Amino acid sequence: MTTGVKIEQPAGKLGILLVGNGAVTTTFMAGVEAVRRGIGKPFGSLTQMGHIRLGKRTDHRSPLVKDFVPLANLDDIVFGTWDPIPDNSYEAAVKAGVLKKEICDQLKPFLSAIKPMRAVFDKNYVKKLDGTNVKEGRTKAELADQIMEDIRRFKDTNRCSRLVVVWCASTEIFLRQQPVHESLAKFEAGMRANDPNIAPSMLYAYAALKLGVPFANGAPNLTVDFPAMQELANATNSPICGKDFKTGQTLLKTIIAPGLRSRLLGLNGWFSTNILGNRDGEVLDDPESFKTKEESKLGVLETILQPDVNPELYGNFCHKVRINYYPPRGDNKEGWDNIDIFGWLGYPMQIKVDFLCRDSILAAPLVLDLALFSDFAKRAGLKGIQEWLSFYFKSPMVAPGLYAENNLFIQEMKLKNTLRYLMGEEQITHLGMEYYK
Ligand SMILES: NC(=O)c1ccc[n+]([C@@H]2O[C@H](COP(=O)([O-])OP(=O)(O)OC[C@H]3O[C@@H](n4cnc5c(N)ncnc54)[C@H](O)[C@@H]3O)[C@@H](O)[C@H]2O)c1
Repeated sequence: MTTGVKIEQPAGKLGILLVGNGAVTTTFMAGVEAVRRGIGKPFGSLTQMGHIRLGKRTDHRSPLVKDFVPLANLDDIVFGTWDPIPDNSYEAAVKAGVLKKEICDQLKPFLSAIKPMRAVFDKNYVKKLDGTNVKEGRTKAELADQIMEDIRRFKDTNRCSRLVVVWCASTEIFLRQQPVHESLAKFEAGMRANDPNIAPSMLYAYAALKLGVPFANGAPNLTVDFPAMQELANATNSPICGKDFKTGQTLLKTIIAPGLRSRLLGLNGWFSTNILGNRDGEVLDDPESFKTKEESKLGVLETILQPDVNPELYGNFCHKVRINYYPPRGDNKEGWDNIDIFGWLGYPMQIKVDFLCRDSILAAPLVLDLALFSDFAKRAGLKGIQEWLSFYFKSPMVAPGLYAENNLFIQEMKLKNTLRYLMGEEQITHLGMEYYK
């Protein structure tokens, strides 16, 4: 086998730094520790349980992804977090209420040893939260310096050879790209001048990238999705990806919509509504944070169905998304979809979906895969936007001028072909003519 590109081996410890110490972060860290101790399985994680076919179907070669690609071993991972709420990760996990108290108690020594570093937090960007564990600085540039100091200290104290940062913190208010985001020079001047278009999430991303650390964005915030960050990521050889983990309702949407399109079934409307009672739901109860989420959720159908290419089938559909904060449900979201479709001669039909899911249980394996793949990307010499990781996102970042690919199956093929390419294996095109010669 010829090696596609030179890839450094994952020697030493990998530090995974998580912004936010809430439901997703604690479920993720507790889950990794449970897997390490052999008391749980990493269901939902492609890096841990997925296989990848290599060569022809007749070759019968389908190794585990983790045996094919040099990924960090779970035993070599250490965790750190930032949060404006000072609870340690045991207290935060118990409050989040995702995992049973018994498993939190079983993991208590591990979880309670993880104490969040002081956050860069500003209530103007997440209106429904308050916190005391917060950094102070005269300018946003000073705050970014303090985050860089945290990152360096964490690396030294934990003797890590590599780091990645994943944003698992609350959804910030909706911000559009402004002149300050256009170049690194303008962004740095903006940090010094406390430009209001620079949100806390951007300071974490800036700090990570400045130090050459990969950054993945699990929320729909703008964060790293603008030219200044791309310039910085390219300059420091840092992989970046986002936005917004693709977990519950949108995951199903990007599974069902490609099927409708493949069979040329038309769409009159898609109404999606949710009830959710965790802190994320509370934050999203603020219209400005919801707007960020709504934009992220609404985009997927357009790019899958392509109304401009198929005007008679998809030129006029109505797409609505609602999230209702309903505390009794906690993290156990219920998402309903009503899909109005039409077929042969325009006869209407309906599909109803009722997904009783668990938000953080679906998100945790994505955090693991993104952390491991981002670290792998860095070692493989990839930098800037990692479109092959769009498999994990509701609103994938892509090069300027490209539309995002939201079809889950194309995303999966892209991801696996990227791994084959990097490892010097043949691409799989699914042509299959050779079997009939
Ligand atoms: N769970 C899912 O299925 C899913 C899917 C897609 C996206 N997300 C996104 O992931 C994020 C985390 O979700 P969650 O359920 O864990 O929420 P959560 O409210 O339980 O946790 C978020 C944590 O971030 C902290 N935080 C807020 N601003 C911060 C800052 N500036 N710096 C550091 N910490 C900060 C909060 O104090 C809170 O503890 C949210 O933005 C959510 O929209 C989750």
